[in-house]
Amino acid sequence: MRVLITGSSGQIGTNLALALLARGDEVHGLDRRANTWTDEVPTEIVDLVELSRAPASWSPPWQPDCIVHLAAYAKVHELVLEPHKALENIQMAAAALEIARAAGAPIVFGSSREVYGDIHRHVTEEGMADFVVAESPYSASKLAGEALFYSYARCYQLPVLVFRFSNVYGRYDNDAERMERVIPLFLKRIAGGEPIRVFGPNKMLDFTYVDDCVRGVMSGINALTAGKIQTETINVAYGQGSTLFDLVNLLELALDRTADATYEEARVGEVTRYVADISKAKAILGYQPQVPLTSGIRRYVEWWRDQGLLPAN
Ligand SMILES: NC(=O)c1ccc[n+]([C@@H]2O[C@H](COP(=O)([O-])OP(=O)(O)OC[C@H]3O[C@@H](n4cnc5c(N)ncnc54)[C@H](O)[C@@H]3O)[C@@H](O)[C@H]2O)c1
Repeated sequence: MRVLITGSSGQIGTNLALALLARGDEVHGLDRRANTWTDEVPTEIVDLVELSRAPASWSPPWQPDCIVHLAAYAKVHELVLEPHKALENIQMAAAALEIARAAGAPIVFGSSREVYGDIHRHVTEEGMADFVVAESPYSASKLAGEALFYSYARCYQLPVLVFRFSNVYGRYDNDAERMERVIPLFLKRIAGGEPIRVFGPNKMLDFTYVDDCVRGVMSGINALTAGKIQTETINVAYGQGSTLFDLVNLLELALDRTADATYEEARVGEVTRYVADISKAKAILGYQPQVPLTSGIRRYVEWWRDQGLLPAN
């Protein structure tokens, strides 16, 4: 199969591209920066925001069987501080959809649990998202992206699959120069004996090990390209909640260090409770997450150790 991936130099894009290559697929990555993790992913440097202004100026190297759109500014708080980037996320989605329309190819969208807003229910099923619950410019950009995807499905009969991811962690996400997420940030600081600030220790989130996320996406690509699904939105997560307090404890255990933590209120725009309902992913894609946070954190710390990223004790 030939798969075009936007955002192929990012965390999920790199893991997905390598997994597709490993099963014998051809991959063409589009990103506005080179891949800093591997030279195995064929990467073309393209800025999708620019491309959204002149979609006809670019065409793929071959007819793709599927497109996976992952390119975005992917940090919630960054977009609270710089809301114009939300508009760029929407432009990137528009550019990816134009590539799919021109190629008549099915397309997958990496959306987010942020579309549910800050909900205080235990589980979330796919029909519950609504634009009035947009908690931040980032969630607004994902809601708008999803709406564009559905509009292309209706107007141009494009098969589309929207995945709502939740706190994906694991290898290739400690890209500190460019962005820093909560798990790599805490890991690095606790390992180095530096203080951490925990915004909302009781925040309950559904942390997803990247291999589970990639397995879900690959099942989705298979179902979409086989015509088994046409237009769907599916949560992909582990399906259990853990607090930031739990997370700090697990990191302390895996690192055998005590965190110097201060606990503060959650920040503006952040979701404070989300536990995914993954029954649709199980029913439609046969998705079965395999890595709970307890073992995922251990694996992740091992990966840091293997990369020589942990300071010597
Ligand atoms: N990782 C998570 O926890 C998570 C959770 C929910 C949703 N998502 C979504 O999944 C997708 C992938 O996430 P990720 O963690 O791999 O993010 P990431 O930030 O690691 O990767 C995104 C990639 O998009 C690229 N990009 C940004 N602007 C671009 C542009 N104008 N043109 C071309 N490329 C551009 C970046 O260079 C980067 O390599 C994103 O859309 C993100 O919003 C991720």
